[in-house]
Amino acid sequence: MDSDQTALVGRSFDSLWDSLLPIGRDPRTGGYRRFAWSAADREAKEWFHQAAAARGMPVEVDRNGNLWAWWGDPRPGSVVTGSHLDSVPDGGPFDGPLGVVSAFCAIDLLTARDTSTSGESGGRRSIAVVSFTDEEGARFGVACVGSRLLTGVLDPSQARRLTDADGITLADAMRSAGHDPDRLGRDDEALSRTGAFVELHIEQGRALADLDSAVAIGQGIWPHGRWRFDFTGRADHAGTTKLADRHDPTLAYARTILDARRHAERLGALATFGKVVVEPNGTNAIPSSVRAWLDARAREDATVEELVSAIATASGAAVDRESWSPEVEFDPSLRTRLAEVVAAVIQPTPDSPEAAPSPRRSTVPILGTGAGHDAGILAAKMPTGMLFVRNPTGVSHSPREHADRADCLSGVAALAAVLQDLAGGRGND
Ligand code: GLV
Ligand code: MN
Ligand code: MN
Repeated sequence: MDSDQTALVGRSFDSLWDSLLPIGRDPRTGGYRRFAWSAADREAKEWFHQAAAARGMPVEVDRNGNLWAWWGDPRPGSVVTGSHLDSVPDGGPFDGPLGVVSAFCAIDLLTARDTSTSGESGGRRSIAVVSFTDEEGARFGVACVGSRLLTGVLDPSQARRLTDADGITLADAMRSAGHDPDRLGRDDEALSRTGAFVELHIEQGRALADLDSAVAIGQGIWPHGRWRFDFTGRADHAGTTKLADRHDPTLAYARTILDARRHAERLGALATFGKVVVEPNGTNAIPSSVRAWLDARAREDATVEELVSAIATASGAAVDRESWSPEVEFDPSLRTRLAEVVAAVIQPTPDSPEAAPSPRRSTVPILGTGAGHDAGILAAKMPTGMLFVRNPTGVSHSPREHADRADCLSGVAALAAVLQDLAGGRGND
């Protein structure tokens, strides 16, 4: 990027970022609560419409509630980039939004390059910026609902029946937000328009923190899933029921948490009970039930199966699998292409502010991840790749999640180069 382009990308990034930042932020924790089909989600979607309108990009809402902003006519085989705007409870600002903001900034850069080459975009494939709905599954329990429905891996009737903590079904939540749930389902038209998908995302570990690169290319995603554990007990009085007479489900739950940790360590896997509902949830009442959700991940499908089976068997709980994402390896030839293109635009981080940046990187790190992404769902249907932007502490799914602005701008430069390469056409400067 020349200095004019660097300044332009900086201005675009700041303006998009600053306008998105207040939406859905909980002032008590500083974390985000942008749950699918909530008021905050609607506001984030309005922000998307405005960002697209400011760039003259028409927006389509597909049958599953995903938003597509088009740069060029919607055509089969277009290049698609983007991510999601929803969050986990008390999530950070970057997980999802960085990919959407960077996508709009990359379009600004490509537009500026077209203008400087007299608008010669002949022969280029169209580009769409997408925001997938309900990636985190924070409200209805299943992650990547928008991309799973789009690709047909989630049955629409099953999706409509998903229920949040207040007993509201996904179908009702959609209806209240003005989206018709009867239209849900595999969308072959939207799929055929997506010739390739590239998602930029904040890194959710700290592999890049010790490397001299602000950007990495995604290698693949570990298999992972979510299981519901129901422990049943008997409600009783905390002050009068002898310990020996109690049927307290929290004891089995506590043993199961420790078991999960032990088996995960043994297998080199990850196991987390991050969400629990205790009934009736009174200080002086022995609980009648505990419902808890296990998130389990490992390098291989078979390891996850062994892990979950060991935890479930000893738990004594009724166990139900709520979702499953098999191992993903991103398209190797697209990965190689992304690595070459990104290496040509990303400069190594100088050791000190005074050190002159050396010309270009010769290689870009390739990273696998344990985090799930819409790119992982789309990878089964089309050439798909990911770019990760350095996260100095590696913290994610927390208000402390962070990426430096300079690294975010490097991410935009990398994404713009990738889109320009994949879309082809003239004006490639
Ligand atoms: C999404 O961020 C996930 O990995 O669950
Ligand atoms: Mn996430
Ligand atoms: Mn994400």
